[in-house]
Amino acid sequence: MQSSPIRTQSVRLGNSDLEVYRIGLGAWPMAGITSLGVTDEASVATIHRALDLGINHIDTAYAYGIGGRSDRVIAEALAGRPERVVLASKVGARLDDQGVWMNDARPEAIIQQAREIRDRLRVDMVDLMYLHAPDPKVPLSESADALKNVVDRGWVRWAGVSNVDLPQLEMFHGRCPVVAVQTYFNMFQQDSVLSLRDYCQSQSISLVVYWVLMKGLLAGGMARDHVLDPADRRRKYPIYQGEQWQAAQDLLDQLRSMARDKQCTVSQLVIAWSLLQPGIAVALVGAKRPKQIEETAVALHIPLTAEELGRVDGWIAEFQLRGDWAR
Ligand SMILES: NC(=O)c1ccc[n+]([C@@H]2O[C@H](COP(=O)([O-])OP(=O)(O)OC[C@H]3O[C@@H](n4cnc5c(N)ncnc54)[C@H](OP(=O)(O)O)[C@@H]3O)[C@@H](O)[C@H]2O)c1
Repeated sequence: MQSSPIRTQSVRLGNSDLEVYRIGLGAWPMAGITSLGVTDEASVATIHRALDLGINHIDTAYAYGIGGRSDRVIAEALAGRPERVVLASKVGARLDDQGVWMNDARPEAIIQQAREIRDRLRVDMVDLMYLHAPDPKVPLSESADALKNVVDRGWVRWAGVSNVDLPQLEMFHGRCPVVAVQTYFNMFQQDSVLSLRDYCQSQSISLVVYWVLMKGLLAGGMARDHVLDPADRRRKYPIYQGEQWQAAQDLLDQLRSMARDKQCTVSQLVIAWSLLQPGIAVALVGAKRPKQIEETAVALHIPLTAEELGRVDGWIAEFQLRGDWAR
């Protein structure tokens, strides 16, 4: 069986001058909010390992950690490193004093958060700044205008938007042109990408996806009888519970078997599959340990034949037939 054509390893984000490797490092786990056992030393080591492996795109946000923990760790890790790294961040959400997530995309909040992010990251200009998500309390048009204002001030090079549906994206892009859209995507949740990708292609907007590993589940290391720590916030997601968990484990057993045959890991197989899906430019993969990014960064080297892709798609279809489990 013939392998799929060699994939381009890097991609330009929209019409920007930002050329990034197709696997980006997600800094959410380093924030220490939902991930357990996070240390800044391990986070810095993870970033260094990612750079060593050729990853040149790190994704963070104003809301990633108390006091901007992920931004600060990134700044510390990059100090003295010679690589040119594309730094992407997000405004429009923050943590309150208890560490509880809240939308805050008022224009004045967007300006203030963007200013703080530059300070925390120790840069004059952030390469790419997304609106994290629409804030139900604020007209999206006002948030778009505020992000455009941040670009016009020269604080960020390019704008992006995240967690929007198609009408929201169209409106946002009309007021604040974006080069990238962030949305969730994984073997269990493909609806958002399916609804956005034609428009993105028509407008030269890059689709950057998160949760490719479904927060670790699709890394394949959690066995069927795995019991999540009571403090592990992944317990709240339906895919980590009951019938969905069992169905996901059935899919994972099939992936485990294919990964064994291909002499790769499940996470590599899953990321390789994700990056072969039409319209997806970049997969962001979270990590908090060097070993994790070592494993995932090389996923682009795993060839998948058309027959293998078809088998994986068949398993996903079987999973979907077992319930209406979109999100
Ligand atoms: N725009 C948005 O609203 C939005 C939302 C979510 C995420 N994001 C971005 O997308 C990035 C990716 O999402 P995510 O970090 O939430 O989830 P993810 O990439 O689906 O999963 C990351 C988790 O998978 C586990 N993992 C990673 N590599 C592994 C390996 N090789 N072996 C075993 N386990 C491994 C780790 O979990 P443990 O070590 O804890 O087991 C890690 O924390 C984020 O970091 C963030 O930058 C953006």
